[in-house]
Amino acid sequence: MIIAVDGPTASGKGTIARALAEHFGLPVLDTGLLYRAVGYQTQLNHGDPDDSADALAACDFPDTLLGDPALRYESTGGLASRVSIHPAVRKALYQRQVDFANQPGGAVLDGRDIGTVIAPHADAKLFVTASAEERTRRRHAEMLARGVAVTYDAVLANIHARDARDTGRADAPLLCADDALLLDNSDMDIGETIAAAIAFVEQKVGRPA
Ligand code: DC
Repeated sequence: MIIAVDGPTASGKGTIARALAEHFGLPVLDTGLLYRAVGYQTQLNHGDPDDSADALAACDFPDTLLGDPALRYESTGGLASRVSIHPAVRKALYQRQVDFANQPGGAVLDGRDIGTVIAPHADAKLFVTASAEERTRRRHAEMLARGVAVTYDAVLANIHARDARDTGRADAPLLCADDALLLDNSDMDIGETIAAAIAFVEQKVGRPA
């Protein structure tokens, strides 16, 4: 069984993907981490993330980079969003994601284009979202808890910029697949969102867990 989980930044899609993977006993891939690794490697190479050739050269990043805590930084998310615009980068990362999705037994993948490009044949597709204000509130609280001094307005501006770039790019933009469940969790807590996601997948594949 293949489960595709797409959505904008700070929507909770990663948490939901991990919960679905645990519930259904499937491996999970956070595809954003691959784009984060390319963005961060571009910076390590002193390259320009807006330059397609520089970003493509960084697609050769070593696998050990995927464990680097710097990939989780907010600034790395911004670099990832910038390198992800280039079709050459998307092409370079394509096969790795397709192979993960199509492994025997299936998988859960989360990202922006899983249900539309990487696994259009997925058995269940979810598009997880929340209002920009609610996503900002969550991301802001999380950053303050980690000791990062940042204002709500700065986080909101950053989320608007990421949304605009991820949704507005020509190649594989962030969009809800026609056959995906739109799960807006603006007024739900994470437990309710996970329960709704599990119920949807069970109903979609026609078997209780
Ligand atoms: O999910 P994330 O915040 O870790 O993703 C970082 C950036 O990577 C996101 O802003 C856009 C890009 N991305 C993408 O273009 N396609 C994906 N499948 C996953 C992430």
